[in-house]
Amino acid sequence: MSRVVVVTGATSGIGRAAAREFAGRGDRLVLAARSPGTLAQVRRECEEAGAEAHDVPTDVTAPGALDALAAAAVGQFGRLDVWVHTAAVMAYGRFEEIPAEVFEQVVRTDLLAAAGAARVALRHFRAAGGGTLILTGSVLGHITAPYMSGYVTSKWGLHGLARALQQESRDLPGVHVCLVTPGSVDTPVYQQAANYVGRVGRPPLPITTPERVARAIVGCADRPRREISVGRVNVLMRVGFTALPAVYDMLVGPLMRLGGLTNRPVPPTEGVVFRPNPAGAAVRGGWLPALPGLVRTVGGTAASAGAAVLRRLR
Ligand SMILES: NC(=O)c1ccc[n+]([C@@H]2O[C@H](COP(=O)([O-])OP(=O)(O)OC[C@H]3O[C@@H](n4cnc5c(N)ncnc54)[C@H](OP(=O)(O)O)[C@@H]3O)[C@@H](O)[C@H]2O)c1
Repeated sequence: MSRVVVVTGATSGIGRAAAREFAGRGDRLVLAARSPGTLAQVRRECEEAGAEAHDVPTDVTAPGALDALAAAAVGQFGRLDVWVHTAAVMAYGRFEEIPAEVFEQVVRTDLLAAAGAARVALRHFRAAGGGTLILTGSVLGHITAPYMSGYVTSKWGLHGLARALQQESRDLPGVHVCLVTPGSVDTPVYQQAANYVGRVGRPPLPITTPERVARAIVGCADRPRREISVGRVNVLMRVGFTALPAVYDMLVGPLMRLGGLTNRPVPPTEGVVFRPNPAGAAVRGGWLPALPGLVRTVGGTAASAGAAVLRRLR
């Protein structure tokens, strides 16, 4: 029988890619995010892929919203098997320059709402005798970087929470808590972020695709694991952070300014921290060139160079 899967953060990036991936597998989806119009669009995408889907506009930080989401899933499909929590926001800036209410809303969204989702899901799974909770951490839950204090604080908290929940659910063989920890992913989260650093953020290299992270998430639902890291240099960064802290701390600031921020100026903004921006929601963030375009560019450049060489030889 197909699974019933709740996905929070389903309108953009990794959550939207995961919704599509589950839909392609024939699972039934309950989709949640704040923007109703974009959510309806994602529901249609899932239906076009052959899945049954239900959209529930939800602000995960609103009191009672996560209980209502679980109730909507059970009301619509009669069961709840997998809960994938990807909803998150980011804020760039030096800690003391980020307004306190922005910092607190980042932590409320990225950590406290994840804990709220875990509470609702685990209560349901414990009563039903099984289910899989998949939380989206980050390599920034294992290491730190400047100008992202709210996000880093949340992800470190989330990693601790995930581990504690894994320990607490050892008495329930059918209940699983998984943590997916991506490195840099090509999603719009960077442009959508609150910003008090003056330059638009970007994912540092190497960048992976949201589709790859989505496959890891679906893989966890198929065969639960404690943690899946997605990113080629995650382990390297963790080793540097742990084994050489003084060197790491000396390099991380300049590297962040070089590889984690663009040169595009941006005035102080709350981004999507308090309100969604449907125009900015998409699976990809545009940080990786689209493959056909890249092939055309490389092919075109090679052809022009070849033609120039031939002209000179004649
Ligand atoms: N992109 C990366 O490089 C990267 C790396 C490591 C980890 N991650 C993690 O992966 C997860 C997904 O990130 P992403 O890059 O895919 O971000 P994204 O493209 O910005 O998507 C974030 C999603 O969260 C939703 N959301 C934000 N605030 C919400 C709220 N209060 N209530 C309900 N939904 C809310 C957004 O929809 P609405 O605005 O419509 O509500 C959107 O669907 C996050 O946990 C992030 O920390 C991302």
